[in-house]
This record gives sequence, structure tokens and C-alpha cells, in this order.
Amino acid sequence: MPESAVTARLAQDIGSKKIQIGVIGLGYVGLPLAVEFARNGFRVIGFDIMVSKVEALNRGENYIADVDSELLADLVKSGLLGATQDFSRLTDTDAISICVPTPLGKTGDPDLSYILNALQEVKKYLRPGHMIVLESTTYPGTTEEVLLPELQESGLKVGQDFFLAFSPERVDPGNPQYQTRNTPKIIGGVTPACTEIIGRLYSSVIERVIPVSSTRAAEMVKLLENTFRSINIGLVNEIAIICNLLNVDVWEVIDAAATKPFGYMPFYPGPGLGGHCIPIDPSYLSWKLRTLDYRTKFIDLAVEINRGMPGYMVSKVVDALNDQQQCVRGARIMILGVSYKRDIDDMRESPAIDIMKHLREKGAELVYHDPYVPHFWEDGGTVYSTELTEKTLAEQDCVVIVTDHSKLDYAWIANHCKLIVDSRNATRGLHGTAARIVKL
Ligand SMILES: NC(=O)c1ccc[n+]([C@@H]2O[C@H](COP(=O)([O-])OP(=O)(O)OC[C@H]3O[C@@H](n4cnc5c(N)ncnc54)[C@H](O)[C@@H]3O)[C@@H](O)[C@H]2O)c1
Repeated sequence: MPESAVTARLAQDIGSKKIQIGVIGLGYVGLPLAVEFARNGFRVIGFDIMVSKVEALNRGENYIADVDSELLADLVKSGLLGATQDFSRLTDTDAISICVPTPLGKTGDPDLSYILNALQEVKKYLRPGHMIVLESTTYPGTTEEVLLPELQESGLKVGQDFFLAFSPERVDPGNPQYQTRNTPKIIGGVTPACTEIIGRLYSSVIERVIPVSSTRAAEMVKLLENTFRSINIGLVNEIAIICNLLNVDVWEVIDAAATKPFGYMPFYPGPGLGGHCIPIDPSYLSWKLRTLDYRTKFIDLAVEINRGMPGYMVSKVVDALNDQQQCVRGARIMILGVSYKRDIDDMRESPAIDIMKHLREKGAELVYHDPYVPHFWEDGGTVYSTELTEKTLAEQDCVVIVTDHSKLDYAWIANHCKLIVDSRNATRGLHGTAARIVKL
């Protein structure tokens, strides 16, 4: 592809790190990306509407577990990384990555309001040479149907004056092996020039960049990845229910099936989906397909099964107490682990929230313990993690394992309480403990 004068200049500026990067949204995705650009020598300004995050970053304080706190502090001190709420500073940037939330609205439809708000700011300060990248997960078509028309209202032409691409974030919080730098990154531009120049920018900080032919393809890649997980988890959750009815240990079955060296990949059942991706993203896809008069049957079924799992876990607790002639009303129950997955502090969409709500409605007296979540907000009040001691364990009628943090000693726990309902197989291999153990 012949280089224009604009792309030739941008390529040179990328090579010499003259490019200044703007990252809009400094959360689980945006902050690690900002740090990655800065540690590679680019000047980075982070933009966020939350004053607490902007102030913390400017003080050199880290608030995302996957980010190296010392590195962040050094980058802020050296002036390579800073944050602001003042969007007029977008004029100082050459490339802008948008990493804002994409939740579902009250009716379960995509809520693009965060993207639209960020877009309005980008639109105000768009200028020739700007590279704009949407990283937020969204339905296929968003970049070209929503962002492109707004940005072209400026009179600037995409692929010539400014460059626009979609590049899905694949961050896996708590993963010690894969971080921003070594997780391959997909990039799909509106035009080949967009893919080429934005791909070049990202290649300077990310080990492997994979170009695809369009923004729609890039948007769809992310949704395929997360829909694949949602459906496979839905399948194995139903297998867990089936095994329960057949009186077969689902965990043993999965472990044995996983010995097959080809054609099988283990997924594990659990108390329900959590986090900002798997419970939400497939609904973006099914919504888009509804607008095209197509019902996404696999996705909808998986969503239904996965959403039923917190209720299924509660029925397990009810039955386990019933078996020892107790009812839930008045029972003292400890929820062990409330983050949505192991070894992280993120509670977004955590199934623990639903499980606690159902148990409380049935009259249980609840406490929780989570080494990563010292407190959280619920119904306008703060709930605090209870200390895990022999005494607090002995006081419980039932301990419900919702998240299996690796720093908890489950053998010790099982020897100091009466009953465990385990949704994660955290008590794997424990026999003859003081506690009766009921598994999902
Ligand atoms: N967290 C993950 O594991 C993960 C993984 C892959 C993709 N994603 C996707 O990345 C996107 C961001 O997710 P996240 O987990 O980083 O969210 P987050 O809530 O941790 O961070 C988003 C940040 O954006 C800020 N924000 C909201 N509106 C803004 C605006 N108009 N201008 C500036 N800042 C604004 C918020 O204050 C927040 O700090 C979502 O689309 C999500 O689906 C997340």
C-alpha cells in the first residue's frame, strides 16, 4: 500500500516515540495499556471522569492489581505518565484509545452511553493526523455505524486525514502469564491505511499484532472469544446439573475427560458467571442479531443456564441444611470468596451478590470472608469481610465456597466447620474432614 505524506510522518513519529498517547478510561483495561505505552517511552495522558482515579495516578499510586506499582510510580515521576479530567488536553495527543465501560442497560440491551460521552470529547478535539482506537467490547458495527459518522462530521476524511480502528482488549485480570505486552492484539481499521498505521503504533509496544480486514471482523473476534466461553461454561454447568441427578461426581468426570489429548478442552462448572465480559458481551451480539431478525439460540440458552446457577447453588445450600434437619431461616452462613473469580478483587457481576441476596431473602444470617475484598457496598451500606478464625468458622451452620482463592487453606477450613457447600471443587482430595462437604 503506498504511503501518504500523513502516514509517512506518523510512521516516523511512532518510530521516534514523538507520538503522545491519550487513553480514555483508566480502569482494568485502560490503566495497563497506558502503563505499557509509557514504559516503552511514549508520553501518555490518561483521561477519566473519576477524580479519585486521576488524583491517585498523578500521585503515582496504583489501584489495579495487575499493574506494577513501582513501575507506575516511576513513570509518573519521570513525566511519561499522567492523568487529567480536562478533555481539552486531547489536543495534545496524536493517538487516542477509548477504554470505557460497555455495560447492559436495565432492559438488558447494550448501553453505549460511556462510548458516546467519550466520543463527544474526541469529536471536539479531532484534528488531522489523529489515530483513534476503540477498545471497549461492543457489537459488530459500532465503530463504523456509531463512531465514524460522528467523527466525519468534522469534515476530516477517514483513512486520509484521521485513522480509526477497533482493537479488542483481551486483558485477563489476575493472569500471571499474559499481560498487555504479550497478549496478541487484533486490529481492524476502517481502511487499510487505518489498520496499517494503528497496527504499527501498537506493534511498538505489543509483541504480536494481528491485522484483520475490517472493524466488524475485529469486533466479532472479541465476541466469538467470549461467546465461546459463555456457551462452554453453560454446557458444563448443565452437565453438572445432569451429573447431580445421575449421582455422578462432575469434577471426576471432567478430570477424566481432560486426559484425552485431542478434541476436548476442559471447562468447569461454577456458581454463575461474573466480571465485565463473559456475562455481558454475548448479550451485545444477540441484541445486534435481534435487530437483523435473527435469534441467537446457543447464546440465549447459555445465558439462561448460567444465570440460573446462583439459584441452583442456593438450592444446594437449602438441601444440605435440610439433610441435617435445619432450615435456612436463622441459619448462620458464611460466604467464602465474593470476587467473581479467584485471586482478584473485582466483584463486578459476581454470582456471590445474587447468592447472598437469595439466602438473605430466605432469612439466613450472613457473613462473608474474602482476602481480596475487605469490604463492599450493598444496598447503600458497607459490608465488611469477617475474619477467618477457628471461632468464626465454628459459629457457622454452613460455609458456602463461591470463589476458590489460592491463598485460602481449605483443609484447615474443612476441619473447623460443620458443613461446606463447595461450588468450585476447592475441597478436592479432602477426605474425613470435620465438615460434611457437598459439592456442586
Ligand atoms: N476488565 C476486563 O477484564 C476486560 C477485558 C477485556 C475487555 N474489557 C472491556 O474493556 C472496556 C473497559 O472495561 P474495564 O474493565 O477497564 O472498565 P472499568 O470500569 O474498570 O474502567 C472504565 C473506566 O472508564 C471511566 N470512564 C467512564 N466514562 C468515561 C468517560 N466518558 N471519559 C473518561 N473515562 C470514563 C470510568 O471512570 C472507569 O475508570 C469494557 O468495554 C470491557 O468490556 C474488559
